[in-house]
Amino acid sequence: MKTYLCLKNVQKKALPEEFQSDDVRYPEELVEHFLSEFTCSGDFVLDPFMGYGTTLIVAERLKRVAFGVEFEERRWRYVQSILRHPDRALLGDSTRLDAVQLPDLDFSITSPPYMGAHHKENPFTAYATEGYGYGQYLETIKSIYVQLNRKLKPSGHAVIEVSNLKHEDGTTTTLAWDIAREVSDVLRFLGEVVVTWDDTYGYGYDHSYCLVFAKR
Ligand SMILES: C[S@@+](CC[C@H](N)C(=O)[O-])C[C@H]1O[C@@H](n2cnc3c(N)ncnc32)[C@H](O)[C@@H]1O
Repeated sequence: MKTYLCLKNVQKKALPEEFQSDDVRYPEELVEHFLSEFTCSGDFVLDPFMGYGTTLIVAERLKRVAFGVEFEERRWRYVQSILRHPDRALLGDSTRLDAVQLPDLDFSITSPPYMGAHHKENPFTAYATEGYGYGQYLETIKSIYVQLNRKLKPSGHAVIEVSNLKHEDGTTTTLAWDIAREVSDVLRFLGEVVVTWDDTYGYGYDHSYCLVFAKR
């Protein structure tokens, strides 16, 4: 496994205008890299935080069978409208992944909704409700991967793309490292792939971590 990648943070396709101010997509190239590394044609893939469907779009192109779960109805409808297999884009809540009907999975890749250590809103309701704090956020991430682990084949892998968060007051939330620690209780941590981004989001966000796990 190569442990660094240099990618351009560019999108092949613009989002519809209503979503353009909140474009949280990772680039297709990132998904292409990991699907090629960990999956074969026909393999089953899950993105538990589907967003605008990048994982599913690339998976369709590479002939993988990918499912995605998205909490926000407008995003889910958009993804359904652009896929060849819209039935694989699911409206739902990944904190309750056990309730989602899925085949046994070969692979998962995602970028989760972020939370800073001092933030108040709940990332798992698209920031629409009050949260229960950073400790509970990390517990919830772990619980999602406990549920995902039950659906993963013995040979399965999971990748989480995430950054540490730099705050305006000069502090940092070590989000990537904290998620790595939590999910390591469930899956075997194989290590991180550092991705450097051209056309960055700004200071602190010229790189991110792809945390790579295998089924225990
Ligand atoms: C960082 S974005 C993912 C972007 C995606 N990788 C892409 O390229 O479009 C995280 C997504 O998780 C969704 N989300 C948040 N809480 C969720 C939950 N409980 N279940 C499923 N999706 C959720 C958010 O609405 C958001 O679209």
